[in-house]
Amino acid sequence: MAALGEDLLGVVNKLQDLVFNTIGNDSLDLPQIVVVGSQSSGKSSVLENIVGRDFLPRGSGIVTRRPLILQLINLPSERQDKPDDHEVHVPHTPASVAGQDEWGEFNHIPSQRFYDFQQVKREIENETTRIAGSNKGINRQPINLKIYSPHVLSLTLVDLPGLTKVPIGDQPTDIEKQTRNLIAEYIAKPNSIILAVSPANVDIVNSEALKLARHVDPTGRRTIGVLTKIDLMDHGTNALDILSGRVYPLKLGFIGVVNRSQQDIQSNKPMSDALGSEREFFRMHPAYRNIAPRCGTQFLAKTLNTTLMSHIREKLPDIKARLNTLMGQTQQELASYGTDSFTGKEHRGSLILSLMTRFATSFISSID
Ligand code: GDP
Ligand code: NA
Ligand code: MG
Repeated sequence: MAALGEDLLGVVNKLQDLVFNTIGNDSLDLPQIVVVGSQSSGKSSVLENIVGRDFLPRGSGIVTRRPLILQLINLPSERQDKPDDHEVHVPHTPASVAGQDEWGEFNHIPSQRFYDFQQVKREIENETTRIAGSNKGINRQPINLKIYSPHVLSLTLVDLPGLTKVPIGDQPTDIEKQTRNLIAEYIAKPNSIILAVSPANVDIVNSEALKLARHVDPTGRRTIGVLTKIDLMDHGTNALDILSGRVYPLKLGFIGVVNRSQQDIQSNKPMSDALGSEREFFRMHPAYRNIAPRCGTQFLAKTLNTTLMSHIREKLPDIKARLNTLMGQTQQELASYGTDSFTGKEHRGSLILSLMTRFATSFISSID
């Protein structure tokens, strides 16, 4: 079952690349997990925890200024004894930091493997500036990053700029509207699963993430709530009511996490230590002890993986139908060019068609 799931996601990832590289947009509306929340709610921290690596640019103000489409690809571990599911995040020893068992690859620099995750971070920064400029504006053109690792579960995640209320520096005055539109575009897609990140130390009724999600998913059918900063709640209060679903109804529920604090980041607390501290936090806390197995980053990653897989299975007939339509359209477009001249456009069109046909054939046979 797990193997079938991984294959399916692999197929969907390939399809995503193909559509991205040829048509340049996501007209197939492929299943993916979209992370939303207000600025500083902990979106980047959650993503880094899921990857188990420090690889996202940080700083004050708006740092994520282009969508980041992050494909996590699980590689078979080289160890003979395969890690259990609950051991997905194997602590990184200095050897494995410098090792060759995990790397990043960007769509805009094909075939270059980034083994140093600090370099991944710098490349995201450079590529952000290249397209979105060095002022604090946003740009809708996504950056595609794949991370291959034996320590991740296969997932496709999209990181988006966080909502800011007040423009800072030389940000355009309509930055909030631009960001809202960009987020809305991603989460309105019926095949997107919304990862709504809200900080536990702010009243949930004020959560921008949940407001955004409710707008496009009013019945809470495809929204997963993530409650960050559980460690920063006022003494004597806890998030049990929210985590148990008694406060805000979401079919996929809420998961509480504890990410690295600003101080942890400044002191370069290793990600493996942070994940260990998070586990301890939930295990030792009187309020969360009993639900500890359903709290934290590892449970979140597993839930996302399972949810994405079942979502993909459910949407397959639909994806097939749209793929067929797209191929039909391309075929018609090609026919309309005529056969007398061999233009660049025609060449591109026939390339798309042959790729699509080849792909669709293997795609459809892999799921029938
Ligand atoms: P983003 O703007 O939504 O991507 O938020 P970041 O992930 O950059 O986090 C913003 C700040 O909150 C950083 O200083 C993080 O260290 C801190 N932070 C995020 N999550 C937690 C958490 O669970 N606990 C604590 N103590 N700090 C957190
Ligand atoms: Na929020
Ligand atoms: Mg961020």
